[in-house]
Amino acid sequence: MGGGIGQHFGAQKYLWGNVPAFDILRLESNEGEGYSKDLHLLFAASGDLRNVIKTVIGLPSTYNHHLNITINDRDFDIVARNLILLLIALTVEQVDEAVDCILHLWYSALVRESHIKILQRHIRPLFAEVSEKMRLTGYRGFFGKKWRFRQCSLFVTLETSSWSRLLSFVDKPVGLTTEHAREVRTATTLAESRIDYRDRHLCCLSPVQRIAFAKFRQDGLLLPFGHPRHEFREPNPTFFQNVDIWPMKDSADPLEGWSSEEVAATSSGAASADIYGKLFYYLQGLLRSFLNRLQSLEVSFELFQLDVAQLPDHIEQDTLSRIDVSNISDAGWLGIPHTLDYMVPLLQTPLQNPHATLITLFMNAVEETLTDQDKMRDMTPNSTSTKRLLKYLPPKGRPTSRFDPELIRFNLARDYVTTYDHIFDRYLKTYMFTEAADVFGAKMKEKHTIIEKWPYRLKLRPGQPGAQDEFDRRLSTGLSGKERYLEWKRAHSHALRDEVFDLGS
Ligand SMILES: C[S@@+](CC[C@H](N)C(=O)[O-])C[C@H]1O[C@@H](n2cnc3c(N)ncnc32)[C@H](O)[C@@H]1O
Repeated sequence: MGGGIGQHFGAQKYLWGNVPAFDILRLESNEGEGYSKDLHLLFAASGDLRNVIKTVIGLPSTYNHHLNITINDRDFDIVARNLILLLIALTVEQVDEAVDCILHLWYSALVRESHIKILQRHIRPLFAEVSEKMRLTGYRGFFGKKWRFRQCSLFVTLETSSWSRLLSFVDKPVGLTTEHAREVRTATTLAESRIDYRDRHLCCLSPVQRIAFAKFRQDGLLLPFGHPRHEFREPNPTFFQNVDIWPMKDSADPLEGWSSEEVAATSSGAASADIYGKLFYYLQGLLRSFLNRLQSLEVSFELFQLDVAQLPDHIEQDTLSRIDVSNISDAGWLGIPHTLDYMVPLLQTPLQNPHATLITLFMNAVEETLTDQDKMRDMTPNSTSTKRLLKYLPPKGRPTSRFDPELIRFNLARDYVTTYDHIFDRYLKTYMFTEAADVFGAKMKEKHTIIEKWPYRLKLRPGQPGAQDEFDRRLSTGLSGKERYLEWKRAHSHALRDEVFDLGS
């Protein structure tokens, strides 16, 4: 592999998040613990359920009003998986059984026979009933179905053809053996041609962490390191929609979707460097809290499989307390003008709720804006970033070649000690964010109240207690430190937008 941004390898579905989950409400520090109104939240390009889960368990225990959660993604596989995992949470009464089933269907390539039985017993009849109804009536088009479970409900709108496709997510994939499923997955996760990419990642892990990483790439089971594996023989039907395709990139990793600090702080017993074991116990705890919270909370889940552009036809204006659009605000996805255009009118006005916020993420903005000159400036021996980096990675000797692992690690780590505010300011100007905000009636929030602007920057200074640990942990994650969040609220009116459209017509 050469320098610069690596090439992707494998199918490009985002069935697992690639940035850590966060609570999109933070009710206590925004509306306040005693908030006494209903809430409506939108995950507009949801990806997996991680932010939904973090948000529900982040609600203060005193909150007892109605919570409406709309979850949308244009990718059918993502919607189908989210729907199935939520239905398991709402229908399987035994909490431990539900937690284990959700955890493995979400993350393990092979699952237990008992997990497939849960799909067959609890989920299949729900989908079969709708498909049968449509077959009998010959109905074609969008069809919405609402299920009620105690004080919760789940409403899903899908096209007729998608309803029949759902059945293939709960049945064993026909003709797919355990062995073939393993081969199909490892053809991506252990591809010969990608050795350099894996080595580059291994170079940033501690020796014991490398063993856990290699095992997950090999067997794809999210389990503690020493846990018996013989029961995991059934190909997970929510991944293997095609018997010859593993649906994700080789770099997709369950660890990327969760806070590395919170995972590292979870005990994995004597195997203290078993990172996937830590994630397993962390998720067990999180899912248990989620299911417990669903016992008392009045929640309506609403799922769509739409392009974001269509959401304004399905959601009332001025109603949403929070909108999370993931990073579709990046220029390579939808970009900021369209994101603001579709989303801002749905947000509550400051008069209705001064804390109502649209949260956008930019994962590629810095990389796309950096020039060769910027990069060269940072790489000089006297630059601030080189001096800071030397404190974390003091040289152990002269590099043996330009492929010396020490040198590769040094270059990969540079992102963490460099600040990119000026680069992001340049990006804002290039894409005329201030003008777009005026046109679409939005305002960038000076002070963020949900998630920090640069959450994955190092917080400690070299030499402070815990600084080296923080640095080593950052280096072992897939994050670059260039991830930038931007929070928006509604301006009081969007008169300018209306004027622009009047002129246009
Ligand atoms: C922007 S992608 C990237 C992955 C993301 N960073 C994460 O952690 O999930 C997130 C999701 O957005 C969805 N998406 C992209 N463009 C969309 C659009 N115009 N409408 C609806 N969903 C969209 C993709 O299907 C994907 O599941």
